[in-house]
Amino acid sequence: MSTPKTPVAADPAAGAEIRAVTDTEAADAPADAFAAEYSVRPIPAPGPVDTTPISTTPAAVEELDALWKAVVHETRTRGNDIHLPISLAFAERLCRAYPEADAEMVRVATLLHDTGWAHVDESRIISEGFAGDWRKAAIRYEHELQGCNVARRVLPGLGYSAAFVERICEIIDGHDTRPVARSLEDALMRDADRLWRFDQAGIALASSWFAMDPATYTDRLATEIVPELITQAAVDMATADLNRSNALLKTGVIR
Ligand SMILES: [Fe+2]
Ligand SMILES: [Fe+2]
Repeated sequence: MSTPKTPVAADPAAGAEIRAVTDTEAADAPADAFAAEYSVRPIPAPGPVDTTPISTTPAAVEELDALWKAVVHETRTRGNDIHLPISLAFAERLCRAYPEADAEMVRVATLLHDTGWAHVDESRIISEGFAGDWRKAAIRYEHELQGCNVARRVLPGLGYSAAFVERICEIIDGHDTRPVARSLEDALMRDADRLWRFDQAGIALASSWFAMDPATYTDRLATEIVPELITQAAVDMATADLNRSNALLKTGVIR
């Protein structure tokens, strides 16, 4: 499916208000508002939910190619050239399941969310970013901030408005370290970021990051990652993928 580039209303005042809130302790008024608006969890999907293998619906052709070209360097770190395209394909599926979301925002945020890994100390990515309380590791915060820098560097030249860029940064900043989503677009990016792990390519790559065998890793996906998913569509996709991947990799036997 092709998702047209949606014009984003220039509303710098709204962007400024959100930024001001994030800089304070009481940062979660947007998160509270989102939780109140979507109180049923996982959030039911009003649109179609596709649970077939993600390889059957790659991300839309051409539309974001200029953006991909602008961040080729950033895709060469931490498996981003595998992680980001697969996550984008899941993001587009999620947008079809939740048509009220701003699909352009979800897609661009997903494509860029981990580009900051290319601008941190690579030697610390595995040692700190994937060990212990990895979601709170300093390098996690650094990759989020660097990802915002990438967004601010590449998006204006591609025609995105300043307000749109700042909303993208609101999603990227905290995508790993902030425990809750602040908007439906934020939630869909977060779910896309997790869904890729359930695909066989995600299991192959990510299990090595965490130094786990495939069976241990898929067990962890079921017990730790599925409960983190925000939308019902993501739960359905993850469950279908996990069943397929466990059968394919014979994780019931090879353990
Ligand atoms: Fe990340
Ligand atoms: Fe990610």
